[in-house]
Amino acid sequence: MTDSTIEAAESFGDLGKILVIIPTYNEIENVGLITARVRAAVPEAHILIADDNSPDGTGDAADVLAAEDPNLQVLHRRGKEGLGAAYLAGFRWGIDHGFDILVEMDADGSHRPEQLPRLLTALRNADLVLGSRWVPGGEVVNWPWWRQFISRGGSTYSRLMLRVPIRDVTGGYRAFRKQTLLGLGMSQVASQGYCFQVDLAWRTVRAGFKVAEVPITFKDREFGASKMSGNIVGEALKRVTAWGVLSRLGRIPAPVPDPEG
Ligand code: GDD
Ligand code: MN
Repeated sequence: MTDSTIEAAESFGDLGKILVIIPTYNEIENVGLITARVRAAVPEAHILIADDNSPDGTGDAADVLAAEDPNLQVLHRRGKEGLGAAYLAGFRWGIDHGFDILVEMDADGSHRPEQLPRLLTALRNADLVLGSRWVPGGEVVNWPWWRQFISRGGSTYSRLMLRVPIRDVTGGYRAFRKQTLLGLGMSQVASQGYCFQVDLAWRTVRAGFKVAEVPITFKDREFGASKMSGNIVGEALKRVTAWGVLSRLGRIPAPVPDPEG
């Protein structure tokens, strides 16, 4: 299968209105490529670029794309506030605009849009679908050994610490039902950096929703730079450890659902 082979040209209208949220910070080389691939892979999906006022002009490039595509919108945010904050704003925007399915996808091509049909198909029988590198059939291409080590280690540590039955708990290729985001108490999520993904997955499990994992091929970016740093990893590690300890002490309250409106 080549990079842009699209799986199953089927319709997902039965799931409702689909919004693919793509957070961007300095993704000028990627923003046009990724949106075109989403368009081709799932034509009915709408796209929201959540840009944190990227100094490289990604926000302006996204505006040009939006002018040509009525189903592509841009959420311009003040400045860099982290991946989690951008997603939360995107989820809120999507729910307020009547979307039923909210998809998380990186801008850099690591999450192949051509595999989105696979996530959406699984969402028919789940409340959250995770694109997973660490289930049979999942894989990572082009990542240095140390990134694989951090990612696998972080996922295993989080799974054991938080007792979440998920293999790839840090991954960022996901499809949520709107009811899942509201039910997990989206408005109370404080995580902004990378532990955001762990936080949401854990809340989804605690709120009693059904989680499915489907294998994906995660490919490292070709253009631009990762925003991952030692600080971000350290921060996530500290948080997950604290959450694990507090939950064993019974100090983590159950998620409080958000109201619909
Ligand atoms: N708006 C906004 N604000 N977007 C951001 C920010 C931010 O502060 N930080 C990162 N992004 C965007 C990037 O532009 C990209 O589209 C996406 O978020 C992922 O950022 P990368 O810097 O490419 O992340 P990564 O490849 O190191 O991390 C991936 O793997 C992690 C661990 O498995 C992502 O998929 C993460 O979600 C995942 O947790
Ligand atoms: Mn990346």
